[in-house]
Amino acid sequence: MAKRVGGLEGVVIGDTELSHIDGEAGRLVVRGLDVESLAGRARFEDVCPLLWSGALPREAERSSIRRALGDARVHAFELLPGLGRALRLADPMDALRAAAAQLEASGSPEEVRLRLTGALPVFASAWLRTSLGEAPLPPDPARGHAEDYLRAVLGREPEPERVAALDGYLVTVADHGMNASTFTARIVASTESDDVSAVVAAIGALKGPAHGGAPGPVLDMLEEIEKPERARDWIDRRLEAGGRIMGMGHRVYRARDPRAAVLEGGIERLEAAGLAQAKLALARAVERAALEALRPRHPDRSLACNVEFYTAVLLDAIGLPRPLFTPTFAVARVAGWLAHIDEQRRTGRLIRPTARYTGTLPAEVHA
Ligand code: COA
Repeated sequence: MAKRVGGLEGVVIGDTELSHIDGEAGRLVVRGLDVESLAGRARFEDVCPLLWSGALPREAERSSIRRALGDARVHAFELLPGLGRALRLADPMDALRAAAAQLEASGSPEEVRLRLTGALPVFASAWLRTSLGEAPLPPDPARGHAEDYLRAVLGREPEPERVAALDGYLVTVADHGMNASTFTARIVASTESDDVSAVVAAIGALKGPAHGGAPGPVLDMLEEIEKPERARDWIDRRLEAGGRIMGMGHRVYRARDPRAAVLEGGIERLEAAGLAQAKLALARAVERAALEALRPRHPDRSLACNVEFYTAVLLDAIGLPRPLFTPTFAVARVAGWLAHIDEQRRTGRLIRPTARYTGTLPAEVHA
């Protein structure tokens, strides 16, 4: 088999204290904590200081970051009238990118981190409500980040179970090693550019279906398959037509993505509370069928379920509309991007690799 090049697979681009993936074991460690234990004990307000300063907050710090994020959401909401066409762009990730690009880049590192983290849920929910012809809902700074975002999206008081499920999702996906959008953010930061520019670039990288754009198509697939007994036939036809199964395969994991099980737990709790339609059984049947169909086709490459598979089912069960799946990923991942931007900046080193030139040289042209 031809060796694949160009994807930097296996290339170590630097050191990080933020998160570690053991792709063979299917393990993710964030600042010394397994993702399963982190998701069980932390809220998004805890993960921000964990990533940004290295430790989970004590109760007083937790209330202060909760309030600071609330104030940042209020500030972002005040900017909405001045955002022009940004929130009327048809694609929600285009809208998020265009709106984030208008944020002020100056201020202390802490101010800029809060400004960006507070703004993304406000812009994402405002895009949705604008696209529905409704007025965006003003943030309530006293509420938790997940709760206030969900309230703004649904336009009503969300049930505590839905809030807990969304909070669990935000915690689970907040950071994940040197993924494409994080690397993008680090490259921009390495040029001594600002955090807003780095996050805007990262939003662009996250948008693609090979990265954060997969959950929408996963839900499309589940809806097309509709019944567990149709899964294997649908998967075989898709693969025979040369298509990929969205939500399967990963650049680093050779085992099941550990975040999948964490998200499945969230869906189970929503279904047990009677708040979600039973898509979990269908998703599990489709995952099994995909594994069975992919194994003989790729005996040398383990293609297992990645985070996006159950992200689609979970976010749908929470009540988020499909167009907000990838923006919601950004709402969480911005915490990781900002931690990486800071870590990269502290290295003081420009990221500037080299490529092998395969074009012609002037001497050959004139020979
Ligand atoms: N469905 C079917 N086949 C897949 C596949 C999938 N989801 N993912 C990888 N493969 C196959 C490729 O076709 C390739 O086969 P080949 O060697 O016969 O050409 C082989 O597995 C290796 O794939 P490669 O493209 O080198 O893997 P990668 O590391 O570049 O890709 C992803 C990683 C995530 C981009 C890829 O698995 C994918 O496209 N998955 C679907 C999209 C998705 O879920 N994205 C979210 C990622 S978190």
